Amino acid sequence: MTEPILRTDHLCKNFGAIFAVNSVSIGFAAGQVHAIIGPNGAGKTTLIDLLSGDTQPTSGGIYFKGRDVTRAPVDRVSRLGVGRSYQKTNIFPRFTCEQNCWLGAQSRLPNSMRFLRPASSYSQVRERTQRALELCRLDHRGQAIAGTLSYGEQRQLEIGMMLATGPELLLLDEPLAGMGNEEAADVIELLKELAKDHTLILIEHDMDAVFAVAEAMTVMVSGQVLASGTPEVIRNNAEVQDAYLGTGEDH
Ligand SMILES: Nc1ncnc2c1ncn2[C@@H]1O[C@H](COP(=O)(O)OP(=O)(O)OP(=O)(O)O)[C@@H](O)[C@H]1O
Ligand SMILES: [Mg+2]
Repeated sequence: MTEPILRTDHLCKNFGAIFAVNSVSIGFAAGQVHAIIGPNGAGKTTLIDLLSGDTQPTSGGIYFKGRDVTRAPVDRVSRLGVGRSYQKTNIFPRFTCEQNCWLGAQSRLPNSMRFLRPASSYSQVRERTQRALELCRLDHRGQAIAGTLSYGEQRQLEIGMMLATGPELLLLDEPLAGMGNEEAADVIELLKELAKDHTLILIEHDMDAVFAVAEAMTVMVSGQVLASGTPEVIRNNAEVQDAYLGTGEDH
């Protein structure tokens, strides 16, 4: 395998006595869709929080394109090209869709530029905003107040805000959570589209969706990696079946 675009090395995050992420070493190949699955409380969101810089590890390392980003704050990680969406929708409900994406697009400018706003950076932000709205399929809803959108559209906007930052690698925390079948099918199509020119790391409980899009999978249980491999290998792994798949567990 070529050098992974993102890699963790014995990554750990403790909350007091809880080992939320416990010595996790994973390589994420460039251009692939890599799904992270596992039961509730397995440490999936905490892992994404560490990868995005939203939280800092207790020990271990994180490397993006060979660069040590172990303790890089979220804005630096974002500027390096890592975008994320949240398990709980994290939009600005009183702003329009366009304004929400604008905030994401602007966050990529160096701090000084945000105040000076030279014409070139302004048009760059405009373009990024428009492109993000198109990609998340909300270009017809640009002037709609985000809080008035349907739940599914709000989840799409969440993805749009992430895309507005111009990321190369997307960290998606349960993008289908709480969606009906039709909305979920739309977002699965969107993920397939995004997978054409991004690396995706996807947490998802919907196994049909996971097996429809993932090229690599990691199963986490109790903060640790239980298994990693192709969807076929994971599907046929007896330990994984016992721990997670086919248990009839209610998510
Ligand atoms: N800020 C925090 N403070 C204390 N404990 C936390 C915190 N965040 C997460 N935990 C604990 O860490 C463990 C892993 O939580 P995490 O949210 O990462 O799991 P998850 O795999 O995303 O679960 P779910 O599928 O329910 O979203 C859980 O035991 C959780 O209670
Ligand atoms: Mg979670």
